[in-house]
Amino acid sequence: MKLPYAEPYKIKMVESIKRSTPGQRKKWIKEAHYNLFNLSSDKVFIDLLTDSGTGAMSDKQWSALMSGDESYAGSASFLELKEVVQKITGFTYFLPTHQGRAAENVLFSAIVKEGDIVPGNSHFDTTKGHIEFRKASAVDCTIDEAFNTTIYHPFKGNINLEKLEKVLSENPKDKIPFVILTITCNSSGGQPVSMENIKAVSHMCKSYEVPLLFDSARFAENAYFVKLREEGYQNRSIKEIVKECFSYGDGMTMSAKKDGLVNMGGFIALNDEEVYKKATVFNIMYEGFLTYGGMNGRDMAALAVGLDEATEFDYLESRIEQVAYLGKKLVESGVPVQQPFGGHAIFIDANKFVPTIPRDEYRAQALAIELYIIGGIRGVEIGTVLADRDPFTRKNRFPELELVRLAIPRRTYSQNHMDYVAAVLKNVYDTRAQAKNGYIIVDEAPIMRHFTVKFKKI
Ligand SMILES: Cc1ncc(COP(=O)(O)O)c(C=O)c1O
Repeated sequence: MKLPYAEPYKIKMVESIKRSTPGQRKKWIKEAHYNLFNLSSDKVFIDLLTDSGTGAMSDKQWSALMSGDESYAGSASFLELKEVVQKITGFTYFLPTHQGRAAENVLFSAIVKEGDIVPGNSHFDTTKGHIEFRKASAVDCTIDEAFNTTIYHPFKGNINLEKLEKVLSENPKDKIPFVILTITCNSSGGQPVSMENIKAVSHMCKSYEVPLLFDSARFAENAYFVKLREEGYQNRSIKEIVKECFSYGDGMTMSAKKDGLVNMGGFIALNDEEVYKKATVFNIMYEGFLTYGGMNGRDMAALAVGLDEATEFDYLESRIEQVAYLGKKLVESGVPVQQPFGGHAIFIDANKFVPTIPRDEYRAQALAIELYIIGGIRGVEIGTVLADRDPFTRKNRFPELELVRLAIPRRTYSQNHMDYVAAVLKNVYDTRAQAKNGYIIVDEAPIMRHFTVKFKKI
């Protein structure tokens, strides 16, 4: 008999969250210039803005905090973390950073130059930001199926090998510092990349002598999908799958706020000594000395435990099944969502949900605002606002998908919270025909505008 999944932990401490009324929220979101990032957390009931750094640490992680070594140089916690990273990833060189984008900043400072091209699978916004900031370009080679939310494909994070080969064959090798594979692929809906695809991309990179890097924020969740969906991996442990995956690459950047199960942290891991040496200079300049790189000793200690816990099957099963539980409830109510469900979030298809709102009025943003007003739920727009303007033409980029992401923090909310979210969404969906107008932008930053952009209601 297959028993239902259940969380492999129980609750030791709770944190209060505040309910409010739709009237209060209408006023608050207007004061926040209709940008959900501007809301203080006490004005949010269920916070699904991100799964980044918002999860709960275990008692073992909290214990590790107490024994963290805060030495500036040669911290024991650094050595402990380095050993865990080497064991889990197989990479030789290790540099801690304060979070994922800092890892990108340090590594890209060493290897990306003006005019370069970086192919990948729907680069995450900070990755793309750090590439474009250096006047290089990110080329998206994701498979087309990723952009149709109703097609079932078990690995929608995969790279289309023809698209990749075109970029590799049409450009000189010295213009392509690396190919980047994001596992799981956040921008295309938390979708996994298959081991077969990782292997094929790695093979192609080798034949063109271009390094392969992983943007690894959710590498453990990716391994869980490989175990469940890919032939030949059912009897392999998550840790074995992770090790195999990284064995096909030359290095990784990591936002430890996701599959590191900590609230802050990141790192770079590499095999190439030359690249490591170049990166150390920037790590010291931007982050801190090599044995802490922007992290407290205690946080490195907690991360060492977190990486081990995140690569355990029972944890991953309860994590990913909770996301799927919400997804199934929404599908039952007819709400259009990205399928199959992602590992860390449910993505609502705003093009199908509110086609009545024009695209240049930011329909996914309008839907996210409505969810907040009706239920106090904070999601995030993954659409035209996030896609930013083209750096050369300064025109809005309209991505294929207009999504609202409901990211589920790790080990944080209960099934009742998921039921509440599903009920609110059903309510909004049932009244969707009334939605006609969206928003206009009144103020925006030149890059990564979504964090600080201000809107006016039309
Ligand atoms: C795939 C991916 N890469 C990189 C980052 C950046 O990491 P951080 O937020 O720690 O800077 C994120 C954050 O959400 C991410 O999802």
